Amino acid sequence: MKSVKEQTVSRGLEGVVAAETDISFVDGANSQLYYKGYNIHDIAEHNASFSEIIYLLLYSEFPTNNELRAFRRRIISEMRVPTQVITMMELLPPSTPPMTVLRSAVSTLASFDPDGDDNSLEASEHKGVRLIAQIPTLVMSLYRIRNNLNILSPDPTLTVTSNILYMLHGKVPDERYINAMDLLLMLHADHGLNASTFAARVTASTRSDIHSAVTSAIGTLKGPLHGGANERVMSMLKDIIDISEVEEYIDSLLAQGQRVMGFGHRVYKKEDPRARHLRRMSEELCTLRGNKKLFDISHRIENIVLKKKGIYPNVDFYSATVQHALGIPDDFFTAIFAIARTPGWVAHILEQYRDNRLIRPTSKYIGLYNREYIPVEKRMKEQEGA
Ligand code: COA
Repeated sequence: MKSVKEQTVSRGLEGVVAAETDISFVDGANSQLYYKGYNIHDIAEHNASFSEIIYLLLYSEFPTNNELRAFRRRIISEMRVPTQVITMMELLPPSTPPMTVLRSAVSTLASFDPDGDDNSLEASEHKGVRLIAQIPTLVMSLYRIRNNLNILSPDPTLTVTSNILYMLHGKVPDERYINAMDLLLMLHADHGLNASTFAARVTASTRSDIHSAVTSAIGTLKGPLHGGANERVMSMLKDIIDISEVEEYIDSLLAQGQRVMGFGHRVYKKEDPRARHLRRMSEELCTLRGNKKLFDISHRIENIVLKKKGIYPNVDFYSATVQHALGIPDDFFTAIFAIARTPGWVAHILEQYRDNRLIRPTSKYIGLYNREYIPVEKRMKEQEGA
């Protein structure tokens, strides 16, 4: 064992390899991302559906047609959430951020899950698929509650992605929006040992239940340095009234030492491969909606930040305008990210359970030693006399 002086700390665990996984590979050096060995560029170009991606991440292979149909039926049949959980969401103050509501609601779902306290691998798989199905219902129901609209049940004749948009807007969406939503969800589905996935695995490694692990992940995704960045991208875009103001706006942010939200990445030092597809989709959807202004401002920000800081956009940057064009309100952006990332979390939690070792790193102690305990009466006198 090294002495404390010899110990080196990797701040933010940068570069530390903390787990083995076969779920996704973030190839930072070459700006590539693979799900179970499939390059996401290939998946994106073939318009794979979100259900196919969930199946791939959980069961390692893409489903056949029959398997996909059966899996879709299974997901849709698990989408219902207990009325008590809906009531709980209604009771929370309307100013509560959606991610805070989601964190509490997912935790509460554990009390109603038919597999209860059974934490066997089989029961955890059932609970995991149920969570993948229920989290979209929670998010869409919250949107409907906040907008005084009636909560909709999933339509078994629709796909999972169509159902998500249907339960949000109350109508079966146009094919182009379904494709965009499939792409958005696919690109966010997994990403190596990112902060929320790590949090999920740490919780799972204590042999705690899958609802606890997903709740930990949601709390972690919420932060502005992780999934919360997409909401802040939108507020930046709304702050900029005209494209001519972009350079001055970015200069002023950087001069204040602030970060430009939606830029930079711990692993990718060049292009984030997900951003390429989201950029294209953002342009397509903004054009389709007849308002390219937000896309044009985004593109200008990208050029300026690259020129001035050499930093590239990450997944959150263009996902903001894609979500906006899909009619998703800004404060729900991170919750949509949570819907997309749940299959990844579940796959990682199950992988952790299958070959578990408690995750428990050490810290380098930099505090004081051998201080003398002073009784409280004396301590007060010394402090007052000082
Ligand atoms: N805007 C401006 N500068 C940035 C930046 C950003 N978004 N991201 C990184 N940098 C700069 C840092 O200031 C630092 O510069 P310095 O060396 O001159 O101090 C350098 O790039 C390295 O940054 P560092 O904080 O060490 O990188 P990290 O790996 O710890 O951070 C993020 C990664 C994602 C947390 C960081 O890029 C960030 O805060 N981005 C904005 C939030 C965001 O979009 N999050 C979503 C991630 S998918």
